[in-house]
Amino acid sequence: MAVDQKLKDKMCEQIRNELHAAYLYLGVSEYFESMALKGLAKWMLHHAKEEIEHAMKFYRHLVDRNERITFHQIEAVNSNYKSPLEAAKAAYNHEVKVTKQINDLYKLADDVHDPAAKELLLWFAKEQVEEEEVTRTLVDLLTLAQNDTKELLLIDYRYGKSAKKDHEEDEEED
Ligand SMILES: [Fe+2]
Ligand SMILES: [Fe+2]
Repeated sequence: MAVDQKLKDKMCEQIRNELHAAYLYLGVSEYFESMALKGLAKWMLHHAKEEIEHAMKFYRHLVDRNERITFHQIEAVNSNYKSPLEAAKAAYNHEVKVTKQINDLYKLADDVHDPAAKELLLWFAKEQVEEEEVTRTLVDLLTLAQNDTKELLLIDYRYGKSAKKDHEEDEEED
């Protein structure tokens, strides 16, 4: 079954949105690098890579359904954050935005009775619950730490360790 034109257009935009998220998180990771927060940089880099995988899920869905893809321009990002907290907030706010995009897409897929697209989008909707949770937790921890360098380094260490674990799990999956 061909994908409804409007749904297809929105999915193509979502490929761009997910790649923009990857770009934004790469900027956040690079900001953490510049602050010598290597653990947080690694954790955020892992997230950037996940966003590329998200874009690829939409890409694969459309290609498998014999649809042609429109490649939109990816917006520039500014990684000059004022603090680690501000950088984390940028990631969290972006996740909230993406959740809305996914929910709108789900509504559209439902309106045009496209069960395959709905199933794909349901996966994304659940993923967004997790994505909001992890980025919100980082915001909360950095809010608690405020300007306490020791606390900040502890958070950095913890996130570095969890990024290492994620990386090992990725390798097991490959
Ligand atoms: Fe995503
Ligand atoms: Fe995300």
